[in-house]
Amino acid sequence: MRRHLLSAGDLSREDAVLVLDTAEEMRSLADRPIKKLPALRGRTVVNLFFEDSTRTRISFEAAAKRLSADVINFAAKGSSVSKGESLKDTALTLQAMGADAIVVRHHSSGAPHRLASAQWTHGSVINAGDGTHEHPTQALLDAFTMRRHLGDLEGRRVTIVGDVLHSRVARSNALLLSTLGAEVTLVGPPTLLPVGVASWPVHTSYDLDSSIVKSDAVMMLRVQRERMNESFFPSAREYSRRYGLDTRRMALLPDHTLVLHPGPMNRGMEISADVADSTRSVIVEQVSNGVAVRMAVLYLLLSGSNVPIETPVGES
Ligand code: NCD
Repeated sequence: MRRHLLSAGDLSREDAVLVLDTAEEMRSLADRPIKKLPALRGRTVVNLFFEDSTRTRISFEAAAKRLSADVINFAAKGSSVSKGESLKDTALTLQAMGADAIVVRHHSSGAPHRLASAQWTHGSVINAGDGTHEHPTQALLDAFTMRRHLGDLEGRRVTIVGDVLHSRVARSNALLLSTLGAEVTLVGPPTLLPVGVASWPVHTSYDLDSSIVKSDAVMMLRVQRERMNESFFPSAREYSRRYGLDTRRMALLPDHTLVLHPGPMNRGMEISADVADSTRSVIVEQVSNGVAVRMAVLYLLLSGSNVPIETPVGES
């Protein structure tokens, strides 16, 4: 593994499989009475969040703590960023405090890359979502969840549905899944598929029903109203009718097909409540798998892949 995790596209198939296999070991820790490893004792992980987040921030915090790292949570609201401090000065301050890893979420696409390339930090930079660009650990946890249910993803068909235009989750998933050999189809209204999607390693379609019948996994995306400054579809009702996953549509899916959603969900919009809570849905599992995957990423970036996973704290 390299020093940073900025894009899902930077991961070779070998890297991605190493993260997923390591996450599998990390996950087995959750079944032990003591859920903590000493691997990152004395290391400092900073969560640098310039944008609202519930699950991603908590997930990174839980992951770092289970590896015995010290965690500093930095939210832009209430910090000197609201007084106009730049990303550079914030990063230099964190560097002066000895951050070994900076987990960054930022509303601007490219912010984590800037942080890593400008060398404002000596530590590892992990992209936890930048603008509409990428969210590599989300793609890794999605692949991990699919792999647990479907086995090797080579040749598997994954349909990603909805607001692809604003979705860093869709972009990272398209890159990672194609690296892992899966066949990805993006489905959404023409207004919500990005210009340039033709250069992505995916198929595209405007018709949900014909795509989902051949899918091994269907990933629903949140309609990101906060990033929309114009009208991308006629009405919420029309959107749900054409691109929402409801009970009628779910009945079209093959028996083994999984339903995923990165959260937060708009219940009743892109996914109906009964589908979200159905036995096919692995949405809650995605959240718990997220901790194992982020533990694996922190572990591999900070302690190097050659260090064996040690016995849990308190066990010998
Ligand atoms: C996503 C995000 O923030 O990119 N959520 C997440 O990290 N679990 C998707 C979204 O906001 O819709």
